[in-house]
Amino acid sequence: MTVDAAATLIGSARSAVALTGAGVSAESGIPTFRGEGGLWTKYDPVKVSSIDAFLADPTAYWEVARERGGLAQAARPNAGHEALAALEARGRLHAVVTQNTDGLHQAAGSKRVVELHGSGRTVECLACGAREPRSDVQARLEVEMPPRCRTCGATLLKPTVVFFGQAMPPAAVREAYALAEQADVMVVVGTSLVVYPAADVPLAAVRAGARLIVINAEPTPFDRLAEVVIHGRSGDVLPRIVDLIGG
Ligand code: APR
Repeated sequence: MTVDAAATLIGSARSAVALTGAGVSAESGIPTFRGEGGLWTKYDPVKVSSIDAFLADPTAYWEVARERGGLAQAARPNAGHEALAALEARGRLHAVVTQNTDGLHQAAGSKRVVELHGSGRTVECLACGAREPRSDVQARLEVEMPPRCRTCGATLLKPTVVFFGQAMPPAAVREAYALAEQADVMVVVGTSLVVYPAADVPLAAVRAGARLIVINAEPTPFDRLAEVVIHGRSGDVLPRIVDLIGG
């Protein structure tokens, strides 16, 4: 029933926008942050992913990155990513606003992707500004900890993602709010909706009159605001919605 209701809402939307989180990439083998087996159940986010801790000692971040062995680099899009790309290709989804930094929406073929928390596919030297592909830096972590900048030799190589204590990229924030405020349907997928300001994006859509759909494995704080709530795996639910909407 609810999958039908979600398909009806998205299928008849003038402008549907999706907000996604780590849950949409879980079925690609990338652990989420919270909940069972979440990254923050193993590591202290302040020690591992805050800008202050990173500037004090980048090793804490890079040791975790070495341990996780480039999971995100090796991951491939799953049926959930592909379904969102299919909806966009059929003109049923206007854009994806994501908290994810893994690039899997783009790899699945999504064209309009707003990365609120930056991209994990690039690394930037905070000393000289030089940039490198993440995969290159990841590859030398076995011999270099913390990794050194190939240009200036400094050990302040940081992935171009938003760490705790850092502002989100202003252009992405502006675009996310513009999309949210003009949407008539907001589809939230695979996020616990506890991290702000990203979690305010669907609220901005609801404030502007949009109808809210929540697709998440567990209950979220916004379920009570939603017209349709589906507690399920995005890799199962989203393809069914695509099938119901049809060509
Ligand atoms: N399908 C749908 N939902 C899922 C699935 C799945 N296959 N697997 C897990 N989930 C849900 C979980 O129930 C959880 O509510 O996805 C949600 C993921 O929540 P978090 O781990 O908190 O991830 P997210 O909301 O993206 O975190 C926001 O926090 O740590 C920071 O910067 C990081 O972008 C991240 C932000």
